[in-house]
Amino acid sequence: MSESMQGMHRSHRCTEVSNANVGENVTVMGWVQKRRNLGSLIFIDLRDRSGILQLVFDEPQIGAAGFEKAEALRSEYVIAVTGVVQKRTAAVNENLKTGDIEVIAKELRILSESETPPFQIEENSKTNDEIRLKYRYLDLRRPDIQNNLMLRSRVLTLMRAFMAKEGFIEIETPILCKSTPEGARDYLVPSRIHPGHFYALPQSPQLFKQLLMASGYDRYFQIAKCFRDEDLRADRQPEFTQADMELSFVDIEDVLDVNERLLQYVFKESIGVDIALPLPRMSWQEAMDRFGSDKPDTRFGMELCDISDVVKDCGFGVFTGALEAGGTVRGINVKGQGSMPRKKIDKLAEFAKGCGAKGLAYLCINEDGSYKSSFLKFMTEEELAALVERMAGEPGDLLLFAADKHKIVWNVLGALRLQLAAELGLYDENQYNFLWVTEFPLLEWSDEEERFVAMHHPFTMPMEEDWERIDSDPGSVRAKAYDIVLNGTELGGGSVRIHQNDIQEKMFEVLGFTKERAHEQFGFLLDAFSYGVPPHAGLAYGVDRMIMHMVHAGSIRDVMAFPKVKDASDLMSDAPGPVDEKQLAELGIALRGGE
Ligand code: AMO
Ligand code: AMP
Repeated sequence: MSESMQGMHRSHRCTEVSNANVGENVTVMGWVQKRRNLGSLIFIDLRDRSGILQLVFDEPQIGAAGFEKAEALRSEYVIAVTGVVQKRTAAVNENLKTGDIEVIAKELRILSESETPPFQIEENSKTNDEIRLKYRYLDLRRPDIQNNLMLRSRVLTLMRAFMAKEGFIEIETPILCKSTPEGARDYLVPSRIHPGHFYALPQSPQLFKQLLMASGYDRYFQIAKCFRDEDLRADRQPEFTQADMELSFVDIEDVLDVNERLLQYVFKESIGVDIALPLPRMSWQEAMDRFGSDKPDTRFGMELCDISDVVKDCGFGVFTGALEAGGTVRGINVKGQGSMPRKKIDKLAEFAKGCGAKGLAYLCINEDGSYKSSFLKFMTEEELAALVERMAGEPGDLLLFAADKHKIVWNVLGALRLQLAAELGLYDENQYNFLWVTEFPLLEWSDEEERFVAMHHPFTMPMEEDWERIDSDPGSVRAKAYDIVLNGTELGGGSVRIHQNDIQEKMFEVLGFTKERAHEQFGFLLDAFSYGVPPHAGLAYGVDRMIMHMVHAGSIRDVMAFPKVKDASDLMSDAPGPVDEKQLAELGIALRGGE
């Protein structure tokens, strides 16, 4: 039986009722969280998105028929209740915002009944992810997810307010776009009117926002849906949201400045975190050398230490071999872990191998100053002493080493550093370390494609002082690109763009595009730039990642209303799904079947 709410008006959300309302009539509406029968009294915990309020049903107050209705209430029934607020007579609940009051019900209506839900709607549900996502509409009733999504809404509102105040114009760009190479794999949408032709969903509004600069909009901003057909991870979804911006007549400093103030404002007003400005900056090279990562977590030390020169003439072939091959030998000092059991060290070596290492050499400094090491017999006393000194090793420390090509050594030690810090609890979850990483390499060699590819994208401006080396040593040219990093995550990234045709054409040449192909793919952008384009630069944040950090969510799914699972499907709606033959025929598509 469902009743109408006609004539009843909700006066308060559950937790808006307070001590100040004692003696007043209120009308509240929401879901039944819990019912307790104490014979002549029935207690209901009523839940809405604000929280929980206790309702009391007492037969003399509500009448026999009302009391009978209250006895029939079950979890997740939707009800409306009018009653009088009173101070709690029985136990005050310190854990509830409304724990010192209750509402004595005078009228009850059952607006909607509920089947027994497949899991209890509660904070920190232990229910497995698959069931939660299949019944996402129920999962979304849980207070922790509701709080995440309410915070997300607040953050977007704050961003819009800040950007508007700074003179940014919000402009929407298309979702049906042209497919362009570079970057991740596109999601394609077949065209009915042009059989055999496809739109691509945007990986980002990059080209459009640059066109808007050429069109004179000066400062653009958008909360933009982006689509990338890549493998999912804990902080990656095929469909995600960027806070995207572009500015004209600016250089790096201007972009960093407005973004530092944006971050300061948003973090303060949403979660009360103070960010001191200016934010620290680090070049890409320094980040790799010190942390083995272009998105270093600077909340803890355990920095990488280059020992190549110390071990270059030692007797340990693993080290000297790597150096002779043009590689490097580096280590990290895991303070106070010198007595780590061999089994655990072997586990770390397995982890290192998973990151691409051939092995992991170790040296434990015992409390008495003696050593235990996988390469003790290959080193002289002097070499060992020099090594330990370089690593600032003290009794009780564990030193771990990787020898290989630079990229592998950075990867391995960078990942080990994070793994060990998590295991050993070396950082504070509530500390927010922001960092700009700058001076990225412009190009990155792709073994797969046997050519240079753009590290950021092909429109990124090279650093003027490096440009003369574009032919002789392209790999050494740095870009005017920057990432904003928070606690080891890339929150956002951007760059100054190329606005000069000659530099852009050279870039395409270095990337291996013929003139024709560049024009086929990006002709509209190049043409637009031939009619007068201001110098411009921009940046985009991953909004989902930002919220994840604000609420310490373990998965990006906890901050999105309707996320996809690992295989990119939606367990609730069953997307993607097959379509009928007629739809395919209209699109001129025949399935190849079974391949
Ligand atoms: P970029 O590719 O670095 O830059 O993306 C910007 C930010 O978007 C977030 N992000 C993601 N979040 C969730 N799931 C994903 N699959 C995903 N991929 C990226 C990251 C990232 O830092 N057009 C440029 C920006 C510019 O140059 O202005 C761009 O898209 O937090
Ligand atoms: P091996 O000579 O392969 O038996 O290795 C001797 C020790 O060096 C073992 O502890 C290996 O884990 C370690 N080791 C092997 N290759 C590397 C490498 N590339 N970097 C660091 N340590 C390594």
